[in-house]
Amino acid sequence: MAISFSGDPLDEIITTPAILPEDNAEASLRPKHLTEYIGQKKAKENLAVFIQAAKMRNEPLDHVLLHGPPGLGKTTMAGVIATEMGVNLRVTSGPAIEKPGDLVALLTNLQENDILFLDEIHRLNRSVEEILYPAMEDFAVDIILGKGPSANSIRLDLPHFTLIGATTRSGQLSAPLRDRFGVTLRLELYTTEELRSIVERSAGILGVSIEPDGAVEIASRSRGTPRIANRMLRRVRDFAQVKGSGVITKPIADEALSRLEVDKEGLDSVDRRMLRSIIELYNGGPVGLEALAATINEEAVTLEDVYEPFLLQNGFLTRTMRGRCVTQKAYEHLGIEYLGQQRLEL
Ligand code: ADE
Repeated sequence: MAISFSGDPLDEIITTPAILPEDNAEASLRPKHLTEYIGQKKAKENLAVFIQAAKMRNEPLDHVLLHGPPGLGKTTMAGVIATEMGVNLRVTSGPAIEKPGDLVALLTNLQENDILFLDEIHRLNRSVEEILYPAMEDFAVDIILGKGPSANSIRLDLPHFTLIGATTRSGQLSAPLRDRFGVTLRLELYTTEELRSIVERSAGILGVSIEPDGAVEIASRSRGTPRIANRMLRRVRDFAQVKGSGVITKPIADEALSRLEVDKEGLDSVDRRMLRSIIELYNGGPVGLEALAATINEEAVTLEDVYEPFLLQNGFLTRTMRGRCVTQKAYEHLGIEYLGQQRLEL
């Protein structure tokens, strides 16, 4: 995912969709088959057809580009595709591949029909990206031997493989790279109902008792993101064990999440700071993303990739040609009276 954990204490808030060290436990919660994967109905339906067709033809699946906000299950989806195709999955990421030779080594070690999952594909450097073009199109790499006028190029054949690229920013992919994916799937934020099912499934795997209301409470406060929902489940389980009977009930979930500064709408301290700054310093907007990021001391890409999708989808924020604006709903949520341009603190 595009968001790296910086170690800044502010990033350690429970609602960051960045991968935290504790999320290693997430692997055990990941579904392996398409039928176990909850949500993303459109992507799943399309994939099921493509997978079945590829298997019938005894061919590798076409290259797949997965895009969408962090924490929505792009790696999980790649694992599911590999299981369904009955092939090996190799996982790497854009920043991990420094030199063209690193990618050539990965590609030449693949077996026929294997899947290579390349996370944060928008962060590949140019010289590495150019290796991918013939690899994706012709299943071959061109290796240059020697330097200057006597340099020679040899073509090395590769096994037929499937590249699954994942990115939070498909707009940043170069056109030649984007065009080489046969299938593009956009992952969407999950509904509360889908997240409730995910929380209940995860609780079952972790052996935690949870009441339906408790699951809804966690689901509705996890900003549409399974990684956050599963992380909250583990924290709420701690509260249930220490402060309650071990069962996750709605009041226990509510108390735990309130203590973790996640409000009823699932907004965390950064969300609230972002909305409040637009209201207090920019009269509700519009404000440019860079100016806003500087004001609240966050990176513009973090605001855009991590915070905005949820705030936009849930009607707290709008994006206009001239910048970001908060909505009346945001004023009401923060307890600031909405009077158009003028406003009064309640
Ligand atoms: N755990 C994380 N994401 C999931 C999903 N989409 N379905 C089921 N379990 C999950």
